[in-house]
Amino acid sequence: MASITKSAEATQTMHQLLDDPSGYYDHIRRYSTAVILASVFGQRGVSFQSPKVQALYHAQDRFTAILEAGATPPVDAFPFLKLLPEFVSPWKKEAKEIQLEQKSLYYSLLNETKDRIRNNKKGFCFLEKILDDQEKTGFSDEQIAYLGGILMEAGSDTTSSTLLTFVLAITQYPDVLKRGQEEIDRVCGSDRSPSFDDLDHLEYLKACMNETLRWRPIAPGGIPHMLIQDDIYEGYFLPKGTILFANTWGIHMDEDEYEEPDRFNPDRFIGNPFGCKFNPEASDDHRRTTYAFGAGRRVCPGQRLAENSIMLNIAKMVWLFDISSPSSEPGDVSMSSAFSDGFLVAPKRFPVQFIPRSKKHVEVTRKEFLESSEFLARYE
Ligand code: HEM
Repeated sequence: MASITKSAEATQTMHQLLDDPSGYYDHIRRYSTAVILASVFGQRGVSFQSPKVQALYHAQDRFTAILEAGATPPVDAFPFLKLLPEFVSPWKKEAKEIQLEQKSLYYSLLNETKDRIRNNKKGFCFLEKILDDQEKTGFSDEQIAYLGGILMEAGSDTTSSTLLTFVLAITQYPDVLKRGQEEIDRVCGSDRSPSFDDLDHLEYLKACMNETLRWRPIAPGGIPHMLIQDDIYEGYFLPKGTILFANTWGIHMDEDEYEEPDRFNPDRFIGNPFGCKFNPEASDDHRRTTYAFGAGRRVCPGQRLAENSIMLNIAKMVWLFDISSPSSEPGDVSMSSAFSDGFLVAPKRFPVQFIPRSKKHVEVTRKEFLESSEFLARYE
């Protein structure tokens, strides 16, 4: 069911890009939130302006802003700062407000899911199953509300920012789009748009996805982790309680690891699953394809869901559109100026054209959109 939902929402996104290409940024951001709203809560996020989608991005923007390094005083390094009264520590007030905003959003979504179940409007979603088993598991309402809410926050702008990064990259690397189109035309022709069954046959587009995740990871500084015991790493003693960042940006831009790391070059992943300079066969270091999803025991549990969404949208976009920059001047792709600041980054809005490749591609998309709308109506 989750695959059909993702596919239907991706078809809607392509339809929105056809009708309103200048709104590309919000259509792509809507996609990732709508997928989680439907598959986790059984609810619909029909447009970026829908109150639920807006509420999620509002809470999320405040949350990631306060988590950014430097946004609050270093209370972990100087614990006495925690003792300051609220009137001289405005970050405490802000943190409390964000918590309230998130909590009331998650509870209102959970309550709507419960109402839908009571009114027999089942949408076959994750929380229906969790609620069915609530007596057995003993989960409280608060735990269930946060379970759904955290999935929505962790899976929304991460996925959409990665897709936007791919679009930004191909405005500057037009040959990549051409190669992707050759592959997609060979695999699925023009009578239908790409579906999940095609994804395993798209080696070049998969390389494009991996290169996007490597080139501009959305959590470039990694996520902080605290050591629960003393450790030694390459001769450094790290005491229990140390806060560590696995520096994703540092790894992905390491010239010893990658040839011309700042160049968007999907070919590095063809014939080498890690895209790196050396022969991965010779390496026995549990290397990951990229570090965009973190590493270790707290690695992102949504990686598969995210990769399926990214691949499907990349495939559908490349199949349907010629995507390019309206300017012949090189565009800005620098992490420091073309991307937002923050603990999670996203490309800032950039100029881009989406031009349908043929009348036939448009007709197929409009027809598939009607079928998808029938399916998505179950979440209305
Ligand atoms: C391109 C999309 C995504 C990227 C790049 C991404 C990246 C990450 C990263 C870097 C972490 C921290 C890992 C660590 O601490 O080492 C993380 C954690 C997490 N992600 Fe994702 N994520 C994505 C999509 C998703 C999706 C779609 C979901 C679920 C629907 C999800 C759910 C989570 C959760 C629940 C955690 C916390 C795990 C924990 O702390 O144990 N993510 N993600």
